[in-house]
Amino acid sequence: MDLPRIFAIREADHRIHNPLTEHKLATLGAAVRLRPGQTLLDLACGSGEMLCTWSRDHGIHGTGVDISTVFLAAAEARAAELGVAGRVTFVHDDAAGFVLPEPVDVAACIGATWIGDGLPGTLTLLERSLKPGGLLLVGEPFWRLDQPDQAIVEGCGFKDRDEYDSLPGLVESFGRLGWDVVEMVLADEDSWDRYAAAQWFSLRTWLDANLDDELAGQVRAELDTAALQYVRYRRPYLGWGVFALRRR
Ligand SMILES: C[S@@+](CC[C@H](N)C(=O)[O-])C[C@H]1O[C@@H](n2cnc3c(N)ncnc32)[C@H](O)[C@@H]1O
Repeated sequence: MDLPRIFAIREADHRIHNPLTEHKLATLGAAVRLRPGQTLLDLACGSGEMLCTWSRDHGIHGTGVDISTVFLAAAEARAAELGVAGRVTFVHDDAAGFVLPEPVDVAACIGATWIGDGLPGTLTLLERSLKPGGLLLVGEPFWRLDQPDQAIVEGCGFKDRDEYDSLPGLVESFGRLGWDVVEMVLADEDSWDRYAAAQWFSLRTWLDANLDDELAGQVRAELDTAALQYVRYRRPYLGWGVFALRRR
């Protein structure tokens, strides 16, 4: 069980595998008022930057779960670098269905709601590891316009516009599912660039050093279109944010 290698190539230099910058991630940690000793579960934790920096900055303890051996190795190294290795644990496992035996103060899934087969299922999954009155954090895309046409939907890498909602639609759906939105931090175009444009540099650097690799053709083809596709579609039309939720 591992993430296909192309993802690790594309995001080889990313610590945060989503469109929030380090600054926005820190803003989120402060906004949700973490306290020393609180516990956090992060499903699909990537390279563990949220757990490691929040443990350093707020004294939390936590567990991260991911299928990527490359990202988990980076997470372990980052925990050691920040001196929080004794407070955070990383688990190589499928996050779909992952429930901790001891419930936590904060349960998160940032940018991977397919683990619960969509937003409602992911909230249900996270809640199974949450203390009563605890906080959920969910990172999810949304459309920045009401009715994206099919070219925009496909240009953003999706099949069906109903895969995601508008921002008001998304906030409404949290309420419908029984959750209060108590905080949020949204990506903007500059923070999207740090996620998307940084991938092109990593891809090109990898390609220059690996011209004979079996993935070289795929990486070349991606580089041919990625920047234009991104500025034409995702940058203007796709929003992204992390929403903090408390059960009503
Ligand atoms: C968009 S990245 C987000 C990573 C991290 N939450 C962050 O924001 O930096 C998606 C992550 O989901 C992980 N992933 C995908 N499917 C998974 C699964 N079934 N179980 C656990 N992790 C999974 C990938 O390895 C990747 O690290």
